[in-house]
Amino acid sequence: MGFKRLAPRILNHPGFRGRATGIPRSKIFITIRRRFGDCSGCDTMEYQMIAPEHSEQVLEHLRRNFFADEPLNKAAGLCQNGSSCPALEAHCAEAIQHRMSVMAVDAKEKGACKIVGVVLNGILKPGDTAKALSKLDCNDDADFRKIFDLLHRHNLKHNLFEHFDVDCMFDVRILSVDSCYRGQGIANELVKRSVAVARKNGFRLLKADATGIFSQKIFRSHGFEVFSEQPYSKYTDEDGKVILPVEAPHIKLQQLYKAICAGDQDEKKQSL
Ligand code: ACO
Repeated sequence: MGFKRLAPRILNHPGFRGRATGIPRSKIFITIRRRFGDCSGCDTMEYQMIAPEHSEQVLEHLRRNFFADEPLNKAAGLCQNGSSCPALEAHCAEAIQHRMSVMAVDAKEKGACKIVGVVLNGILKPGDTAKALSKLDCNDDADFRKIFDLLHRHNLKHNLFEHFDVDCMFDVRILSVDSCYRGQGIANELVKRSVAVARKNGFRLLKADATGIFSQKIFRSHGFEVFSEQPYSKYTDEDGKVILPVEAPHIKLQQLYKAICAGDQDEKKQSL
């Protein structure tokens, strides 16, 4: 049963009404919502693999929800909500080509589906990050350069390939949920499904660069562990000025990983 239908039943139940609980009604409402992990539109929520033909719709979702909201984009002033950012769009479009990304679609009305969340995953090979860093110099978007300079250099310094001796990784690159649908467990479900995709495709290692406190919590709750961190206050230029003044409560970049062992893979493959 959906949250919208269930919550009023509980709140108006004779055993509940008029009882002096001392807890504000609004707080109880939030607690019920969290407890049942339900949301408006959940009855109609579907999770699907993203195909290249969905690219334009996915990019439109990201322009409205990720481009201006993600902590580093926001700190760099990368773009206004809804506007395009060619460099970031190219980065996202490239990930979609790997065919390992997942979207949450609200299919409220027949034929009128809305993308309300996406996780863009790609395959990362040794040498890819160094190549991306060298290509960054040719990019004319200074704000984009600031963000990806931090990410690429951090990944090269804390090298997961060397540490785990793997020749490819499942790279969780972009996690985004529509601002009207946040706090309803959609990002959690997208990460859970990404782990399943990685397992199904035989990956031994997943990684994610989580830029904010909430995404960090989500990855950790799915068994990701912190490999390295970069406090934003210590990422400074030669004059000691903070390069990306990220707003609280986000204080650091975390490079997270999740290792999948062979036995675990066989077991999960059977259950898929
Ligand atoms: N305040 C408090 N807690 C929060 C918040 C918030 N604003 N957002 C998420 N959480 C917590 C929830 O409490 C929940 O914890 P629980 O499982 O213990 O209840 C957990 O995070 C998961 O919450 P979801 O509802 O699954 O997350 P949601 O669907 O709201 O999406 C996301 C979270 C993706 C961070 C969303 O806010 C967003 O799109 N933000 C802008 C883009 C962004 O920052 N993306 C991540 C960058 S890192 C990367 O892309 C790899």
